[in-house]
Parts: sequence; C-alpha cells; structure tokens
Amino acid sequence: MTTEPNQIAQSLEHEERRGFLKNTLRIALSVYAASGVFAVWRFLRSPSERRVIPQPLSLNIAELEQEGQRTIQFGDKTVLLRHDATATTPSSIYRAFNLRCTHAGCTVQWLKDERKFICPCHGAEFAANGMATRLPATKALEELSLTLDSTHGKLILCDAPTTSE
Ligand code: FES
Repeated sequence: MTTEPNQIAQSLEHEERRGFLKNTLRIALSVYAASGVFAVWRFLRSPSERRVIPQPLSLNIAELEQEGQRTIQFGDKTVLLRHDATATTPSSIYRAFNLRCTHAGCTVQWLKDERKFICPCHGAEFAANGMATRLPATKALEELSLTLDSTHGKLILCDAPTTSE
C-alpha cells in the first residue's frame, strides 16, 4: 500500500498541531504552578515583613508639653505621646507607647490621673513605663523611640524600640 502525498501532508500537520498544543499546555501549567507558589510565599511571609515602616516623624516639643499627651496614628500603630514633667530621669520625660494591648491586640487607654494603662477587653493593666501589672497581659507595651533634638525644639518619633528604660 502506498501513501498519498495528501496523507503525508495531513500527518505532518497533525504532528505540528500536537506539538503546538503540548507546548501551550506546558506553558499554561508552568504559569499556573508559579502563581500557586507565589500565593503560598505571600501567605507565609510574616506580618512584620508585610508592614510598611513609617518615616520618622518630627514633633514640636512645645506643643506636646502644652498638651501633656497626644494620641496619633503612626503607620499601623496608634501611639500615645506623653510629656511627663514629674519624671525623674531625662529619658522618661518624653515617651511614646504603642497602645496595642500585648494580650490580644485591643487598644489600651491611658488613665492620666492613675498613671496607668488599662485594657477594656479583658482588664489587663500596664504601669506608666509600659510594664504589664495585671493579667492576662504578661508582656510590656511596645515603647517607640522618641529622641530629643533640642537644637531645633523637636522630638523625632521612630518606629523602632526605645533605648530608654
Ligand atoms: S486584649 Fe487587652 S487584656 Fe485582652
């Protein structure tokens, strides 16, 4: 039996189509697999890696001293800035605390007269220096770096742990 030229041409055409479909399928599967790997990688990244760190913020000392305290939004943190004229050490005159409760993340309140933070969710309490004093919280509030630039009458708030006590 002899093969007609038409049959040979058709057979070649089928081979080409099959090769094209195989390559297309291979590329589609590769893209699908890569998108799956990327989604898992994004999910597994820790929240701290996903955070956008805010730029340092310059604050007017005179205004803070006049107000005594101020609550601001700093990046994703709600921060209490406090001026304490009765502080005994220079490093504790100006302080900045993240108001996120270390128990489960509620926003704590600063009670100025009682000089303590309380959490409305489960009753935890924190001393004026941020230390946990009442369960269920056991970790101190996060204190942010607030450095004094006396030359310019400014305080510089940074999203970094403080070096003061
Ligand atoms: S979230 Fe503050 S005590 Fe539970």
